[in-house]
Amino acid sequence: MNLPANFFIEVVYLIATGLFVLSLMWLSAPATARRGVLAGEIGMILAVGGTLLEKGIIDYQWVAVALVLGAIIGVPLGSVQMTAVPQRTALSQAFGACCVTLVGTAEFYLRTPNVPKFTMVVLSLEVVLGCLTFTGSLIAAGKLQEIKFIPQRPVTYKGQNIINLLILASAIVVAVALVLNPSHTFLYPIMVGIALVFGVMLVVPIGGADMPTVISLMNSYAGLSAAAMGFVLNSKLLIVAGALDGSSGFILSVIMSKAMNRSFTNVLFGAFGQVQTPAHGTAEAKTVRSATAEEAAAILGAANKVVIVPGYGMAVAQAQHKVRELFDSLTKKGVDVKFGIHPVAGRMPGHMNVLLAEADIPYDRLLEMEDINSDLPQTDVALVIGANDVTNPAARSDTTSPIYGMPILDVDKARTVMVIKRSMNPGFAGIDNPLYYLDRTLMLFGDAKGFVNEIVRELSDSAAH
Ligand code: TAP
Repeated sequence: MNLPANFFIEVVYLIATGLFVLSLMWLSAPATARRGVLAGEIGMILAVGGTLLEKGIIDYQWVAVALVLGAIIGVPLGSVQMTAVPQRTALSQAFGACCVTLVGTAEFYLRTPNVPKFTMVVLSLEVVLGCLTFTGSLIAAGKLQEIKFIPQRPVTYKGQNIINLLILASAIVVAVALVLNPSHTFLYPIMVGIALVFGVMLVVPIGGADMPTVISLMNSYAGLSAAAMGFVLNSKLLIVAGALDGSSGFILSVIMSKAMNRSFTNVLFGAFGQVQTPAHGTAEAKTVRSATAEEAAAILGAANKVVIVPGYGMAVAQAQHKVRELFDSLTKKGVDVKFGIHPVAGRMPGHMNVLLAEADIPYDRLLEMEDINSDLPQTDVALVIGANDVTNPAARSDTTSPIYGMPILDVDKARTVMVIKRSMNPGFAGIDNPLYYLDRTLMLFGDAKGFVNEIVRELSDSAAH
């Protein structure tokens, strides 16, 4: 049997493609996420390995230089702090998009003027998406890293959306002109320039803390540009991997914008994240009840069912390991402890899942918002640790609230609510939380890590007596 010369490479690519699909599937649940990462890594090694076996490679020396350079940049990037992951992701996307743009540029100048129409269409798509993702992701990374010369606040002006649309339209007009006549090579750098400017204009109106949604959208653009590159290079692997990246990034952006109650049209036009006027509450007229760690430990120890709701404050305090200790001591007492995870708790997708997994909390104890909400009315104690907006009942009932319509964890339906936070300060949305003034709510003022530690100590002291 005569097999085609590149049969082996095609098989390797096929296995890599399958691994990418499995990787995404496994990444969608905490219990299988580690396997998903491993599958993705093996898939990528196979994809790179297969490419290195391609006959088209003329000089391995340059490939080796690129591999070493990539490793020098990539290894430190892989070990950044958890809080810096969003900007690290943005940087990786910028590198990927830059690479796509460079490959597209090389292909254009190698093939011109004999570029078939379809190839020129996908090549233009690849380069325009690559360029805007490159500059957009760099600005996003800079905002998140709080780099001085990049304004963190949304930069907005009158007619911004119209101007942005005009810039995008002019990039499309130039691309169409190139498709019709690829020999007009002078148009190519103009198209690149406009798309680079568009990437900047798309991201500057967005506030620093809203960047995770835009990063996920940029991820989607990077995937689409890689898929377009797959058509140019006739690589099925790139088409599938790019499409997976593009669609998963898009789905994640939709999930995030829904969970934050933002209209997706706003996300698409990049004009979301505008400063909302914080509706500061009427805290002066209201009183709250607070409790000590000893009292909190007694209430928790006497409960049958406890739901812990972690949020951004748990992440900042790095309290997850103490929370694990609390989980252990309550479970030992026979208390049924579950965790309620809101899709946008913290500051990046999966933030709470990652932290709790790091502390080895059993995955089957982590429940998504839709699954835990029906449990909350039968729950003795809802213990909120450094979460605020994701528990704010105003989102359900107050039509004037900036977060009205955002789905929340219904902790106010539990028999007793206890909230660990340092003060009455608002959270990300900058608004007061009526939950704190309910009769059934006890405020536990203090740092999340320190306070949980004290509760654990109280619980073990009471167990010893
Ligand atoms: P937030 O509403 O931001 O509330 C966090 C609370 O943690 C604050 O009220 C703060 O109160 C408290 N806190 C801070 N440091 C603490 C510490 N060391 N110990 C104890 N408490 C501490 O957080 P959330 O409920 O997790 O909601 C997330 C918010 O971020 C949502 O509005 C969401 O839309 C937004 N957002 C999320 C994402 C993603 S993808 N997750 C992306 C962008 C934006 P004190 O200062 O009084 O302690």
